[in-house]
Amino acid sequence: MVFAVAASFHVPLSTPSSSTFLFHGNMIAAVLLTMLGLPCLWFFWSALSLQANKAKAETTGLPLMVRWVTPTNPFWMMVGSSFVLKCRALGIGTKYFHRFYIFGWEANERHVVHQELGPAFMLVSPGGNWLCVSDASIFTDVIHRRTDFRRNMEQFAVLNVYGKNLSTTDDEEWQKHRKVTAITFTENNNKLVWEQSLLQTRGMLQYWLERQPVNTTNDDTKVFTLNVLAAAIFDKSYPFEGAAESKTHISTQNGFEYRDSLGKILKNIIPIFIFGEQGLKAWWTPHSWKSAGLAIDVFRSYVTGLINEEREHMDLGVQKNQHLVAALVCACESEQRENGHSAQRKRDMTLTEEEIISNLFVYAFAGNDTTAIALNHLLVDLAASPETQEWIAEEIRHYLPEDDLSQWPYKTFPHLKRCLAVVVGQ
Ligand code: HEM
Repeated sequence: MVFAVAASFHVPLSTPSSSTFLFHGNMIAAVLLTMLGLPCLWFFWSALSLQANKAKAETTGLPLMVRWVTPTNPFWMMVGSSFVLKCRALGIGTKYFHRFYIFGWEANERHVVHQELGPAFMLVSPGGNWLCVSDASIFTDVIHRRTDFRRNMEQFAVLNVYGKNLSTTDDEEWQKHRKVTAITFTENNNKLVWEQSLLQTRGMLQYWLERQPVNTTNDDTKVFTLNVLAAAIFDKSYPFEGAAESKTHISTQNGFEYRDSLGKILKNIIPIFIFGEQGLKAWWTPHSWKSAGLAIDVFRSYVTGLINEEREHMDLGVQKNQHLVAALVCACESEQRENGHSAQRKRDMTLTEEEIISNLFVYAFAGNDTTAIALNHLLVDLAASPETQEWIAEEIRHYLPEDDLSQWPYKTFPHLKRCLAVVVGQ
C-alpha cells in the first residue's frame, strides 16, 4: 500500500507523456501483484512445509495435532491471541481454532488435551514438529539425555536483547556464563531481597486495605515483583504503588525510569525480537514500541554506569554494594585475576560488559513473570484456605513477634518452615 501511494505522488518534471502514464500504470500493477503474490506464496510455502512435517510426524505412529501456524511464529505470538479471542467473541472459526491457536494454549488445556489425544502426541506445524508428553518417565529420560534433547536456541534467541547470556547459550559457552552467574546470588543479596520484599508487602497491604474489594492481585503482584527485582539488580528502592497508579506517573521523575525501562522491555519482548532496537524507533512504529526502544538504551546506560562505578570501587579495594551488578562485576574480576595468576592459562571464563548487561536483563526476565504468577497463586490459594493462614500466622507470631515489619531480621528466614512449605507446596 505504501508503495502504491508513493508511486501515484511521483510528479514528472516535464509534461507527462502517454508513456509516463503507461509506466506508472505498469508500476502500480506490479506493486499490487507483488502485494497479492506474497501472501499466496507464503500460503503455498506453509502448505508444503506442513505436508512435509506431517509426513515425518506420521512415521512416529503417535496421534497428531495439526496447526497451520507455528506456535513460535513471532508475529502470531504478538497478535495471534487477540485475533483468536476476537473470533471467539464473534463466533467465527471452529472450536479447535479457539482452543489450540491461542498463545499458551497448553496452560489452558492442562491434562484435558492428553485425555483426548493420549499421553504423547505430535504437534505438527509448518515451522516444525513438537512432541507433547504428559508422562513423568519420559520427562526424566529427556532431562537425563542433555545431548540428545538440546535447548531450542532459535526460540531462546528472543532474549538476546543485549547479546548472549545464560539462557541463550549452550555447551562450553553456557558453562562460562553459568560459572560466573551462579556465584552472584549471595547471602548479602538475599538479605536485600528479604528487606525489599517486606517493604513492598507493607505497601501492598496498605494499598489493599484502602481499596476494598481487591480485584487487582494479578497486576499488583507484577509491580511488587518488578520493584523487588529492581532492588536486587541495581539497588534502587521504589515505594509500592498499585498497578493503576504506576501507569499514571511520569517515568522520568524520581528515578522511576530505570525500573520502568525494565518493565517496558519485558512487556515488549516480542516486538523487540522482531524489529530490533533500531527498528522499534522507526517513524512508523506505535508510541509503545518507540518507548521500548528508548528503554533499551536507558537500561544499558544505567547498568553501564553501575558497572564502571563498581570497577572503581574494586580498584580502591572497597566493596559496599550488594546488588547483582556489583556481584557480577566482582565475580568476573576475580575470575580474571585467578586466571592471570594460574601457571597454566585456563579457558577464559570472564564475561564482557555486554554479556554482564545481558545476564542482568535475563535475571529480570526469568524472575519477573515466574515470581509474580507464583505470588498471585499463593495469595489466592491462601485466601481460600483460612486454616492454612492461621497455621503460618502461628509460626510468624512465634519467630517475629514485632508488629513493625522493618524489625524482622533476615536471619529468621530459615526458621520459617511452615511458610516455606506453603510456597513449595503450591
Ligand atoms: C517462583 C519463581 C520462579 C520459578 C517458578 C522459576 C522457574 C524456573 C525454571 C523452571 C527454570 C528452568 C527453565 C529451563 O531450563 O527451560 C528457570 C531458569 C532460570 N531462572 Fe527461574 N524461576 C523463578 C524465579 C527466578 C528468579 C527470581 C530469577 C532471577 C532473579 C530466576 C532466574 C532464572 C535463570 C537465570 C534461569 C536460566 C538458567 C539457565 O539457563 O541455566 N528465576 N527458572
